[in-house]
Amino acid sequence: MCGQALCYLDGRPNCDQSICEKGSSLVKQAKLVLDREYVVGEIDPRLYGSFIEHVGRAVYGGIYEPTHPTADARGFRRDVLDLVRELGVTTVRYPGGNFVSAYDWEDGIGPKPDRPKRLDLAWRTVENNEVGVNEFATWAREAGAEPMLAVNLGSRGVKAARTLVEYCNHPQGTYWSDLRSAHGFRDPHGIRLWCLGNEIDGPWQIGHKGAHEYGRLASEAAKAMKLVDPAIELVVCGSSYRDMPSFPKWDATVLEHAYDSVDYLSLHTYEGNGDGDCSSFLASATGMDSFIRSAIATCDHVKAKKRSSKTINICFDEWNVWYHSVEADKAVEPWGVAPALLEDTYNLEDAIVCGTMLITLMRHADRVSIACLAQLINAIAPIRTVTGGPAWRQTIFYPFLHAATFGRGVALDVRSSSPVHETRRYGPVPLLEAVATLSEDDESLTIFAVNRDEADPLALEGDLRGMGDWRVIEHIVLAHEDGKAANTAEQPGRVLPHRQSGTNCENGKLVGLLPPLSWNVIRLGRPDVVADRV
Ligand code: AHR
Repeated sequence: MCGQALCYLDGRPNCDQSICEKGSSLVKQAKLVLDREYVVGEIDPRLYGSFIEHVGRAVYGGIYEPTHPTADARGFRRDVLDLVRELGVTTVRYPGGNFVSAYDWEDGIGPKPDRPKRLDLAWRTVENNEVGVNEFATWAREAGAEPMLAVNLGSRGVKAARTLVEYCNHPQGTYWSDLRSAHGFRDPHGIRLWCLGNEIDGPWQIGHKGAHEYGRLASEAAKAMKLVDPAIELVVCGSSYRDMPSFPKWDATVLEHAYDSVDYLSLHTYEGNGDGDCSSFLASATGMDSFIRSAIATCDHVKAKKRSSKTINICFDEWNVWYHSVEADKAVEPWGVAPALLEDTYNLEDAIVCGTMLITLMRHADRVSIACLAQLINAIAPIRTVTGGPAWRQTIFYPFLHAATFGRGVALDVRSSSPVHETRRYGPVPLLEAVATLSEDDESLTIFAVNRDEADPLALEGDLRGMGDWRVIEHIVLAHEDGKAANTAEQPGRVLPHRQSGTNCENGKLVGLLPPLSWNVIRLGRPDVVADRV
């Protein structure tokens, strides 16, 4: 062996002598095989969802800022709306998060001057309720996204959950639906997707509950909500992160109570690089992958136990990188209105990790139906703003944008062999992470690939003979010589994607080079279509 890198083939360590014999100065090589028979599943567009919580400046100073120069008549920042549309978010979860577990949704409806100011116990701030469910639903539709709501099953219960469904979705002629009309929203919001609380397994949650207690409550709330509107889909809380000691027993117990009345199990994951172990951080998606596999196994275990014909899928409704702001947030004085909280400034490394998380989600498209990048504006977000000032795209904006734009149709599994890098947390992990998507009309193929190697490029060779004839349309790369480089208000364009030349596909053989620490999107089209464009 060349000693430069271990090789990894189909999950097993492997030494490719043809590479090693040529000497260790050669560029590291990775291979992938694509075949149209390797279909994982159809991608639900809701895989590209996001999340707006009443936390920090996500709402106030984020989506809503009536005094901002770009604000419209309703107080929404147009510059932010434009960026959200550009990002291609398909669904947005609201209003929390931890916030929802002590939230009274009725505080956020009706004339704004009459709305109460309340203590928000989750983030220890003051909530003025200028934005509530009507404003959010209006904003989400304008952003081109489907609103997704969470009900409070922390401090409240069945009644508040079912009245909120009635307020939002019932056409007219009842107390709550007529109240919505009186508030200026004659047409129902038609909200299809609902979360039954948030992270109820977490001791930090207001109204935290044990699995039996929550499972019973979720099941009863689900029953009442679906009686109001049988068209809705419901997400039950699973474990709030994979290292919870109660995972996966908690999830199994909850599902045993609620299996028949819910549709999805919620999972959350935040990755961090706080301990400076960068190679483990770059391999974080390995942990997310095993979390998803265990959660699916848990759902199917309960399915088998119940002899059910119904399958519960996954709603990964919070995922991201989160660590930069954690220490600074501890020093924030309580009871401010919309203080800057959770404002992570993301660098290239973070974008690479987000890219691998997106690849992981696509790779599980058969069972992960919905996912939400948490969050959307300012608080751990791809979009940042200065209150009264500009808005800009963080590094993590780009992998999401590319996945939401090109990651449509069906996900195809990629069989790959790649050198590995050693990590303390996950052992040996391949340098190459990849997935492919094929559009419904069979006319465009996209390979999403990450090179985790911080120092060296990775020569990529793809065997696409099982896919028919393809030509490269473009190879988009997000990379930077400094892995810590970030976009800021002063330098919003420091880390930008660019087109890379030299990537080719002829006679079913793809060749290209993945730069060190890079996110790559290789777009291919049918030869006649690509020739017409050139
Ligand atoms: O997204 C930030 C917080 O992370 C959410 O409020 C909570 O659900 C999670 O712990």
